[in-house]
Amino acid sequence: MSSLAESARARGNNPLSFDKSAELIERNAQWMAGGVNSNFRLNISPTPLVFERGEGPWLYDADGNKLIDYYLGMGPMILGHKPQALVDAVKQEIEKGFLFAGQTTVEAEAARLVCELVPSAERMRFGCSGSEVDQAAIRLARAATGRKKIIKFEGHYHGWFDNVLWSTAPALNAAGPENAPVPVAGSKGQLTETADALVVLPWNNLDLVVERLAQGDIAGVIMEAAMCNAGAVHPAPGYLEGVREACTRYGTILIFDEVITGFRLAPGGAQERFGVTPDLSTFGKAIANGFPVAAIVGRADLMEMFATGGVVHGGTYNAQPIAMAATVATLMSLKPSLYATLEERGGRLMRGMGEIFARAGVLAQVAGFPQVFHVALGLDVPARNYRDLARMDRPAYVALTTALLHRGVRALERGAWFLSIEHSDAVIDDTLLAVEDSVRELKAKGVLPTGDFRK
Ligand SMILES: Cc1ncc(COP(=O)(O)O)c(C=O)c1O
Repeated sequence: MSSLAESARARGNNPLSFDKSAELIERNAQWMAGGVNSNFRLNISPTPLVFERGEGPWLYDADGNKLIDYYLGMGPMILGHKPQALVDAVKQEIEKGFLFAGQTTVEAEAARLVCELVPSAERMRFGCSGSEVDQAAIRLARAATGRKKIIKFEGHYHGWFDNVLWSTAPALNAAGPENAPVPVAGSKGQLTETADALVVLPWNNLDLVVERLAQGDIAGVIMEAAMCNAGAVHPAPGYLEGVREACTRYGTILIFDEVITGFRLAPGGAQERFGVTPDLSTFGKAIANGFPVAAIVGRADLMEMFATGGVVHGGTYNAQPIAMAATVATLMSLKPSLYATLEERGGRLMRGMGEIFARAGVLAQVAGFPQVFHVALGLDVPARNYRDLARMDRPAYVALTTALLHRGVRALERGAWFLSIEHSDAVIDDTLLAVEDSVRELKAKGVLPTGDFRK
């Protein structure tokens, strides 16, 4: 019997309880706003969780539950929780000291590996978060072109700072026409003038980008080369190539935000997988399997502007040696066989889930990539952009992730399912059983959208 089924039987098939987590969140809220340290950890059904530890594909929470984890720290843990290679590398490095405000051998080794793996990386710099390095890329694009405006796409997330937190998850009734979206602020307190330097467009519509670029005043185009933060959506055939060509023609810097796709879709990220080379790109998450590391990479002439072109990039903790040791250990582990295994197991999980929905007559799309995919309930064709995703049946999906959690499977309510190399076939079998059982329960309650999407 599978380990999830065994533990379910041991508790008389009762759903898992998260009462202790709820109690701790309430207690901790006297010190931390909302009891959490990121708004993206708030408003989780049935409660934000408090964890004791993680190992492989598993998380162990304050209630004593063992959960199969498809959040994976919101993407980073491609090697799973607490891989031995990182534990060893970090232990060894920590003995040498923590921070020198100078250069180290280990950071050079990490940089060499990044430049070797990422096709467009002629030069690179490290930072600590995706939000930061996206700022560095935008600054470089403006400095290099002498222009101000940046094109960003609806539904694409490039961090939480004022100038980019626009139209990341806008309500459709506030977002304007599909082909001419109105920038929608993501936060109160945001400097609204920052929208003046942005043009928000729908993603995957080549004509609209080319038309706008032709006006000749755009410094940079920033995009997730595959839109993964909200779901996991492929670029349309020819789209990335077309944007690349138009950026070159109109003197605009093309920036791929590979914070999710980097080191996940392929060792060299989306740019390797799709064979399109940006001028600049940014990385984070899977680069160091859970340590706070990010990177900006790109054309030597642009990146050298940090050294000799008067463009500032700073950060006390950039290339912190212990995090660098984790980066080296992660990048050394990214062998081709790892991606082949992820493709095979993730593909099996996606197909298995699709079959469960089809058998139950539930209208759903399981789409994206085996390493990162999404489940869109209520859609009869795969989403091509944010507006398509926004039309999915969100309450039904939250009911599904909640039902799964009560069966020991933790998947992001917000969108993507992330896979690690530790998600074995047995773990995937367990997951599929939990999906089947959850679908049965929710269908009986009439919560799930029905229809045969194969027609
Ligand atoms: C595509 C993308 N870019 C940038 C970021 C920001 O990265 P960080 O949370 O490390 O600041 C994220 C975070 O989820 C992301 O998904």
